[in-house]
Amino acid sequence: MRYYKNAVDTGYVQTSTRLIQQAKQRSYAAMHIEPGQKVLDVGCGPAIDTVSLAMMVGTTGQVVGVDADPAQVAEANQRAAQLGLGSKVRHQQSDIYILPFADNEFDAVRCERLFQNLDYPERMLQEMIRVTRPGGWVVIMDTDWGSISIDTPEVEIERRLIRFHAEHNLRNGYAGRQLYRLIKRSGLTDIAIDVFPTFIASLAIGRQVVRLDETEKAALAAGIINEIELSRWRAALEQLDSEGVFFLNGNMVMVYGIKPYPVTSHH
Ligand SMILES: C[S@@+](CC[C@H](N)C(=O)[O-])C[C@H]1O[C@@H](n2cnc3c(N)ncnc32)[C@H](O)[C@@H]1O
Repeated sequence: MRYYKNAVDTGYVQTSTRLIQQAKQRSYAAMHIEPGQKVLDVGCGPAIDTVSLAMMVGTTGQVVGVDADPAQVAEANQRAAQLGLGSKVRHQQSDIYILPFADNEFDAVRCERLFQNLDYPERMLQEMIRVTRPGGWVVIMDTDWGSISIDTPEVEIERRLIRFHAEHNLRNGYAGRQLYRLIKRSGLTDIAIDVFPTFIASLAIGRQVVRLDETEKAALAAGIINEIELSRWRAALEQLDSEGVFFLNGNMVMVYGIKPYPVTSHH
């Protein structure tokens, strides 16, 4: 990570878009894509990644995205069409635990920031492995919401709220830190790990990313914090932000490995 002197008031420094872009680029590289290959993005959202992957599969390759949300799929297909990639990149709505693809259909499969929403991450991983060909790469990247920290004198309240967000606003908020265990146990080989730190230096954006409105309200209702603590917490953050020194940081974790070839039995 670099510090850019005199650049403090640009949006670029307020949210670390650049760091997230770098992480995404590393996840594409981890797929080891060659021209002509067919690759899948699970939980594709609005096609940010599938259209980038289109550049890597060459003229004869194919990129497929799946998402459970029909609105995301519609937006994704619209984006691909606008970029003139409609024939190379397609997105479809699907139950993500039952992917509508044959065994071994893809040369590489990736998934970013879906596992944090899942009740059954092992099942999702098994399904990703099923549709990957032996020798192909499976790449998963997700947030460790427990690693988020916010600079404030109210350290104790901050810990409670971050924990509450990870455990109650998300189905699987510790997804990032669990990926190594999950993937190691899955039988993938040649496992590699990357961790990507990122930061936000704007209270407005930080509140959105950690869904602080929702977190504070729910934490209050659950008795995790009381009204007095909530006003102390908010006042402290607003004071820091008014001085231009709000700061949050946290980690994304990426773990990837190769689907092994079936063991041939010898008699
Ligand atoms: C944070 S977005 C990430 C999108 C994209 N992978 C990216 O990194 O830019 C999470 C995506 O997962 C999908 N999703 C969330 N919860 C899901 C669930 N329980 N089952 C299936 N898809 C889900 C959403 O529709 C959304 O597109």
